[in-house]
This record gives sequence, C-alpha cells and structure tokens, in this order.
Amino acid sequence: MTTTTRSFPQGFVWGAATAAYQIEGAWNEDGKGESIWDRFSHTPGKVMDNATGDVACDHYHRYLEDVALMKALGLRAYRLSVSWPRVLPAGVGPANPKGIAFYDRLVDALLAAGIQPFITLYHWDLPLALHDRGGWGNRDIAGWFADYAAVMVKALGDRVRHWITLNEPWCVAFLGHDWGVHAPGVRDRRLAIQVVHNTLLSHGMALQAIRAAGNAQTQAGITLNFEAKLPATDNPADQAAADSVLDPNYEWFVDPILRGYYSERILQDAGVDAPVVQPGDMALISGRNDFLGVNYYTSSFYRDAGGKVEQVEMPGAEYTLMNWAVVPQGLTALLKRLSRDSRGNLPLYITENGCSYADEISPDGRIHDDRRVAYLRAHFAAAHDAIQAGVDLRGYFVWSLMDNFEWAWGYRQWFGVVGVDYATQKRTIKDSGYYLRDVIAANGVL
Ligand code: FCB
Repeated sequence: MTTTTRSFPQGFVWGAATAAYQIEGAWNEDGKGESIWDRFSHTPGKVMDNATGDVACDHYHRYLEDVALMKALGLRAYRLSVSWPRVLPAGVGPANPKGIAFYDRLVDALLAAGIQPFITLYHWDLPLALHDRGGWGNRDIAGWFADYAAVMVKALGDRVRHWITLNEPWCVAFLGHDWGVHAPGVRDRRLAIQVVHNTLLSHGMALQAIRAAGNAQTQAGITLNFEAKLPATDNPADQAAADSVLDPNYEWFVDPILRGYYSERILQDAGVDAPVVQPGDMALISGRNDFLGVNYYTSSFYRDAGGKVEQVEMPGAEYTLMNWAVVPQGLTALLKRLSRDSRGNLPLYITENGCSYADEISPDGRIHDDRRVAYLRAHFAAAHDAIQAGVDLRGYFVWSLMDNFEWAWGYRQWFGVVGVDYATQKRTIKDSGYYLRDVIAANGVL
C-alpha cells in the first residue's frame, strides 16, 4: 500500500467528467432532435477536419463498457451531461421516452457500480428548434430551460442528488455568440452579452425548478470556467497590475450569482452593449446555490510596465497541446478567492481539470502519458493546498474520462485518462488513469 502525506478529507468525491455531445454519438437515433452542435459540425469549415460528434465515442451504445471502466478506475462519482434534444426533441413539449430511458439506464448502471452521478443539464447542445426561436438570445429560454430541468429531475431526481444547471456559460455567450468559434457560430457582441444575462436567468429559474421537482437530498449549482490572473513576479507593482485586470469570467458570472449585481466596470466595458435587465432579474440570478462547480485549466500573467498593465508569458512555463500554460498554483489562488468571496459558505467542486497531450501507444500496448500524470499530480497538490488553507472543496472531477470530440478541435486533442481508438472504439486505460485509480484508493496525492 502506497502512503501519502497529502490526504484529502474523508468522503472526498473523486470523479471524472464528460459531456453528451463529446462522447455519445447516436446523433439522430431513437427520436433525438437536432442540436446546434449537430448543425454546426455538419457545416463544412466549422470544425477541424470537418469532424462531427455523429459517432464520437459511441457511448450511447457502449455505456455499460464505459461504466465498467469507471468502476475499474475506482471512481466515486461521474459527471455527465444530458443532451437536451435527446430528451425533448423540440426543446419544449413532449418528451422522448427513449431519450429519457437512456439516462435512466445509465444512472442505474452507475449506481449499481457504486458511482454517484453528477448531472449537467446544459453542456452546449441546444435543441436546434429553440435556436430557431432565438435560442440563448431570447429571454424566454429561461422558462424553456426550467421546464426541461423539471422533466429531468422528475425522471431521475429520486436517484441523482447533484444537478449542475449550465456548463461554462461564458463559453456559451462569447465562444458561441461573439467569437463564433462554437455553435451557433454567431459574431455579435451585443447579442453575446445579452446571452450572458439570459444564461444567468436560466440558471436562476432552473434552481427553483430543480428544487421544486427534487427532494430534501437535492443539491443544485452551476459550473463556471475560470483562470487566475497572476503577477509575473512577486513585485507589489506586478501584483497590483494583476489585480487590476478585468476578469470577464468572474465579473459577468460570479458577481451576479454570489452578490446579485454586475460590477460597474464590467458594465462600463460593455458600454452600449450592456444587457437588458428587467426588475427582479438579479434577485432570481442570485438565488441560493448548494455548491459551485469550478473548471480550471490555466492562468495568465501580468506585469506593471511603467504604469501600464501588460500580459506576459510565464517564464519557463510548460504548455499543453492546447497551448495552455501549466499553472497549478493558479488553482490554489482561484479556490481561495472563491472561498473568500463566498465567505466560506459555498461548497466547491472542481468539475473539470485536465490536459491535452498527443499520446502514443507504446510497443507494450500501453499509453505512458507521463506529462498528464505530472499535470494531475501538481493540480491535486494545488487543490490540497487550498483545502489546507480552509477552502471547502468537496470533490474533484478530472477532464476527461476518455478522449473525445473536443469541439472546434474535433478529434485533434486528447484529454482522456482513457484513450479511445476511434476506428475500433477500443478503450485503453492510460498511465494517468492508473495513477488516478491509485490516488482515489489512497485518497491522497501520490
Ligand atoms: C471545457 C469544456 C469541456 C472541454 C474542456 C477541455 O471548456 O467544458 O467540454 O472541452 O474545456
């Protein structure tokens, strides 16, 4: 038995995460409706190699094999997302019984394997039918989303405790509606900022719907994406420079959710594109969350350049295949900041953390992904540092359980602790998967 000097609290929730469009495939089977990602990936030129999620990891048909893999890794929890158009093909109106039955079987298989499901309701695959009615730009979406949330909690809430409303609404708003690199591929900054507000409203209404349809055990929250803004050196001027940088992820989402307002400076930055806010919206948006999901991959660095703030490369930084700097200390800083800003009253989960590297299968048939092991070890230690500093961190989900469709990158990024050969659908546990298994068994950093 390996021993560890960095033990996590008893009952710490170790898991791995995926998202429906990235793994399920079966894009038009059993009555599933089309999503904005189906449409986007089927449009030539939008995704690298014109790859699609039509088949992906074929998880829809292979979920039992995948649950067995999770069990082999000793996962205590699994974060999955539900495909909204699979269960409500038109986004609203009649449910598709076969779609619900899939998640029903998956949840039962997970529970039978001793794995707690954490369900994300929206991980980017909006029903196309709703996009055609204005999608995230139409404030009616808050009601559509809340109704969908209620359908899912009614179907699975007797067995599933943890519900995450949306994944990374910053990406939904800006990657999808400002930069246009994610579905629906729109480039309209004003619309994107209204989408920020509409995702927040949807979150607020869904919290209420989840609680109304759930039971005393039900826990509801949201997952946001962050990076820390760090000083290039420990010089106080650089620290001040880093602290002064506008942080859209934080200011568009954490302020309204935790404090019920948009900061003056984020509104000033938006200028004429500031969102339309109706009376009562901010109260709805700042409803109580049972937890906050934190997605963390990287951070950025700033220095004071004679009174001007300058973003710089971290000297000597290692970069992953996504070209994201490896910055474990940013995770500690971020968790401490969130804990401070919520006065320690909001349990945190890391709902995604991981890295992409181009893996190779060795002659021995194994995948020796040493850099991923090192990345995970450093980030587990960083999370442990935060716990030691008093942060109420309850769990840690590695992104991702397996290699999958990485959005605009198609199949050219590999985040899994399990490798997938897309030609044969053969899964291979990587060294990082075995490492994760051992960390979970020891409940500590090895
Ligand atoms: C996050 C997404 C997730 C995956 C990782 C790499 O932004 O939530 O689906 O793409 O990045």
